[in-house]
Amino acid sequence: MNQCLICESEYQSFVDFGDMPIANAFATKETLNDEYTFPMKVGFCENCNMVQLVEQPDRERMFHENYAFFSSTSNYMKDHFKRFANSVSKLQGLDKNSFVVEVGSNDGIMLQNFVTDNIPCLGVEPSKNVAEVARKKGVEVITEFFDQPLAENIIATHKKADAILSANVMCHIPYMHSIYDGVKVLLKNDGVFIFEDPYLGEVIEKTSFDQIYDEHVFLFSALSISHLANMHDLELIDVEYQITHGGSMRYTIAHKGAKKVSENVTNLIKREKKLGLDRAKAYSSFSDNVDQIKDDLIKLLKTLKNEEKKVVAYGATSKSTTVTNYFGITPDLVECIYDTTPIKQNKFSPGMHIPVLPYEQFHESDPDYVLLFAWNHAVEIMKKEESYMSNGKHWITYIPKVEID
Ligand code: SAH
Ligand code: TYD
Repeated sequence: MNQCLICESEYQSFVDFGDMPIANAFATKETLNDEYTFPMKVGFCENCNMVQLVEQPDRERMFHENYAFFSSTSNYMKDHFKRFANSVSKLQGLDKNSFVVEVGSNDGIMLQNFVTDNIPCLGVEPSKNVAEVARKKGVEVITEFFDQPLAENIIATHKKADAILSANVMCHIPYMHSIYDGVKVLLKNDGVFIFEDPYLGEVIEKTSFDQIYDEHVFLFSALSISHLANMHDLELIDVEYQITHGGSMRYTIAHKGAKKVSENVTNLIKREKKLGLDRAKAYSSFSDNVDQIKDDLIKLLKTLKNEEKKVVAYGATSKSTTVTNYFGITPDLVECIYDTTPIKQNKFSPGMHIPVLPYEQFHESDPDYVLLFAWNHAVEIMKKEESYMSNGKHWITYIPKVEID
């Protein structure tokens, strides 16, 4: 029986990806034959509307001193987090007497903006290597997992927060009740908890199935978040759509009754009900839609191979681990992946062992087709490579459907 991580009801899974490796565990020659895998299935709880992984690896396997995701590899995301920080400062009227806590602060991409503005802040980031980068930017970081006991510690060593922020982290954490208990105690009476994550509505509408991997234990909606907040005497007071990570939602939460609830919340919940996100039926065709993309992409890659075209990939994303492993994309079909992240380079992609090479070698490799694994950064990347790709080369994308530019 699958038991919901939020409300403990029994639920059914609606898609099964089979055995998957850790999405960010890039292999070396020594570890190639010793990869951890777990059965990756996703289910929907009709009682509290939470979409969740049936099983998730232990957190220490995913977040540690060799964590491979560095937030600041995208210039667009740097700007995005600057705007995010500025909007919070404005909303809460932050100044040198305020206090901001970020959960999952990674390399300091968001908090560096508060440091510049002299607004006291603290990062909580268990992955020591990325936390070290933030420290070098002058950000104070606790290298631990956020939960309720840590929130109590922060109150003892620092103070209560005017704003608790988090981006692309909440959806990683299975022990949500401890997180919300922590938020409840750490947040000042008029404080706000603002977080954003890939949005369930977009994943279903676009069939962006590659948002599903070991780290992403939840796919949130306004429906599930308002339910969860209510369980902790908190309230969802605003929602704002974001184009990042292929379509995300920013949720603002406050103590229940402390602030006015925006009509954005009621409107979004209405829309989600209209889309049927509160009923199992909405998820029933998801698996078939994923398999359609799989058939189309594999057919295309095999045709290109028969035509002796050179196909490489761009962006060794976590998402691509789901794509390559579920579709069975081996180095036979895609020669290599180019990526700017040093810790991923000269290693092999998890499971399918496609070589990951430094981005600097991309232009000299002279491919015919480039499979864009970092499709969520398409605007930024396609602009950067515009003149290079204009030379008779083609992009391949696959969300929401397989396309050649
Ligand atoms: N906020 C950044 C990083 C997202 S990656 C961005 O949007 O780009 C997810 C991060 O969450 C990782 O750096 C991981 O180490 C961290 N993380 C995972 N579980 C956590 C927890 N319980 N508390 C704090 N951070 C956590
Ligand atoms: P991203 O899509 O943000 O994340 P996820 O791991 O959550 O799926 O990952 C972007 C990856 O693409 C990262 O490994 C860095 C790489 N990248 C480039 O190589 N060049 C670029 O211009 C950008 C924006 C990213």
